[in-house]
Amino acid sequence: MLWTALFLAFIATAEPTVAQDITQFPILAPATAPRKLHGRFLHITDIHPDPYYKTGTSLKKACHRKKPSKKKNRSKYWGTPYSDCDSPLHLANYTLDYVNKHWGSEIDFVIWTGDNARHDNDRRTPRTPAEIFQLNRNVAKRMEKLFASKGIPVVPSLGNNDLWPHNILTPGPNAVTKEFTSIWGSFIPFAYHQIFQRGAYYSTEVVPGAIAAISLNTLYFYDSNKVVSGCDSREPNDPGNLQFDWLEVQLKIYRSRGMKVWLTGHIPPSHGNYFPECYVRYAELSLRFQDTILGHLYGHMNADHFYLIEDVDLLLDVDQPDGKLRGEDDLCDALLNDFADIPKRSKTDMDGFGVVNVSPSVVPNPYLPSFRVYSYNISGTPGDVDILRKGRKPSHNRGDHGSKEKYCAEKEYKHSWKCILNNTWHTDSDSPSRTNTLWSPLGYAQYYIPDLGEGNKTHYPHFKLEYATYAPAALYPLTVNDEEGMKDKDNAFYPIPLKNLPKSLRKGPVSKSKYLPYGMEDLTIGSWVDLARKLSKDGNQKLRKKFRKYMYQA
Ligand SMILES: *[C@@H]1O[C@H](CO)[C@@H](O)[C@H](O)[C@H]1NC(C)=O
Ligand SMILES: *[C@@H]1O[C@H](CO)[C@@H](O)[C@H](O)[C@H]1NC(C)=O
Ligand SMILES: *[C@@H]1O[C@H](CO)[C@@H](O)[C@H](O)[C@H]1NC(C)=O
Ligand SMILES: *[C@@H]1O[C@H](CO)[C@@H](O)[C@H](O)[C@H]1NC(C)=O
Ligand SMILES: *[C@@H]1O[C@H](CO)[C@@H](O)[C@H](O)[C@H]1NC(C)=O
Repeated sequence: MLWTALFLAFIATAEPTVAQDITQFPILAPATAPRKLHGRFLHITDIHPDPYYKTGTSLKKACHRKKPSKKKNRSKYWGTPYSDCDSPLHLANYTLDYVNKHWGSEIDFVIWTGDNARHDNDRRTPRTPAEIFQLNRNVAKRMEKLFASKGIPVVPSLGNNDLWPHNILTPGPNAVTKEFTSIWGSFIPFAYHQIFQRGAYYSTEVVPGAIAAISLNTLYFYDSNKVVSGCDSREPNDPGNLQFDWLEVQLKIYRSRGMKVWLTGHIPPSHGNYFPECYVRYAELSLRFQDTILGHLYGHMNADHFYLIEDVDLLLDVDQPDGKLRGEDDLCDALLNDFADIPKRSKTDMDGFGVVNVSPSVVPNPYLPSFRVYSYNISGTPGDVDILRKGRKPSHNRGDHGSKEKYCAEKEYKHSWKCILNNTWHTDSDSPSRTNTLWSPLGYAQYYIPDLGEGNKTHYPHFKLEYATYAPAALYPLTVNDEEGMKDKDNAFYPIPLKNLPKSLRKGPVSKSKYLPYGMEDLTIGSWVDLARKLSKDGNQKLRKKFRKYMYQA
């Protein structure tokens, strides 16, 4: 019955152009007892375990061999901070065990965005496909044991170093997509195994019936992958185009079911990383489905940062340089430059923004081991649940700003996705990406190991809170202090469990803390745009310094 109803709902809302994609409709997962939600999830990325890592060896030999005469040039037991070396296996183990011990009973799902093999940085010991698969299998087994087996969904995605040679992935099915279908067999819903074999992407309901995480295979968008056509509109079978066709259908289905979606993957969508036409399709879908997408979670860069996807990215302005983030040596400077172009608040149309969050890596290359725990709203009322029934008028923004009429007839632009894509955008200021309401991201806490280089076999280094995005008051449930709230103390929501806060924050509300530099009320698009605008102001040197400090963990 339910199946039929959903199927009909899908037919009713699907546009004719996607009717042929009915085979992609996901089969409903078997009903399981609903879990109690904690309102938090883990994002962990770029573990890069290296079985050849040896303590006391040369940083110039990938920490694999030779003993430099100077002690400070030797690799460290738990991993070598700020180096080009990968993670000793026991660092990978220690990190996962730490996360499990301190967060295992506090999170609802795990976003895990790739690169679970070492880099190919030692000519004497080249990588092999077998080694890459084995390293991935080992980490996947730990993830399975620590999280999935306890009912915590794990959502892995493919990294550019999870392949041989790195960065190169031919259209599937191929040896890589087949092997990962097996390695991640228990994480990928059965209904997606076939599609995964072809493209190495899938979707999974991390909160059944409410929130899905879509794991994208960003290798088909990555401009270093020279064996694909980069989403050229004249190549409908390009694996990047096929993936975006699929993603569009997924987003339509989830939207029609009133569900929300996290987009996740390894390589973040940016001008610098993606083929230009793939970036256009990504940006357009991000904005077209802004009312459905909760956010964009990526890894690969190893440096902590965020940036904005903007409607101006879809303009056909010939004067607009294509690669905004290109040509800047320093990522931080490039971002601050970019933020400086954001119009002032009264002139900013939030329909035109999406926010990409890039988490730093576990591997201390080139910074320090880190992971993030996000919190999200599990108690609010669904802001836009009636989005379809209420017959709200959708925004008529198509990101064209009139430039299409001017340029799209020209030969140069005719085949650009900027000219082809002409759909109405689904935006709604009440949606959880725009207003703090049910399922809205609220903030994250980031942990790292500042004393990594000091540990040894018997003395473990220490994970510490590096910073959190929250406003100080938001760390404690409002209700705890008032009489009404006392009654409901057991259900009081702490975005960070008190036990995982530094001592100075455990006792209760403070007005200010060095751990809370951003003081963000929530992680809605407006809050990020406000932070970006603040960071772009020369007057805010202190804040800018912190942003840079977190990016480079120095
Ligand atoms: C050792 O350290 C010194 C000083 O930091 C540096 O100049 C030198 O290049 C290093 N040598 C090696 C082999 O890493
Ligand atoms: C990692 O942990 C697993 C499970 O506890 C253990 O079997 C394995 O020996 C550990 N490996 C290292 C290198 O510490
Ligand atoms: C969750 O959303 C509701 C609005 O629906 C809001 O009142 C509440 O403060 C939010 N919860 C948190 C913890 O921010
Ligand atoms: C886009 O669609 C609108 C409405 O359907 C139409 O008026 C407009 O001409 C189209 N623009 C292009 C460039 O195709
Ligand atoms: C390990 O580090 C601790 C603390 O710095 C030190 O006391 C101990 O001697 C070290 N052990 C070894 C074997 O180096």
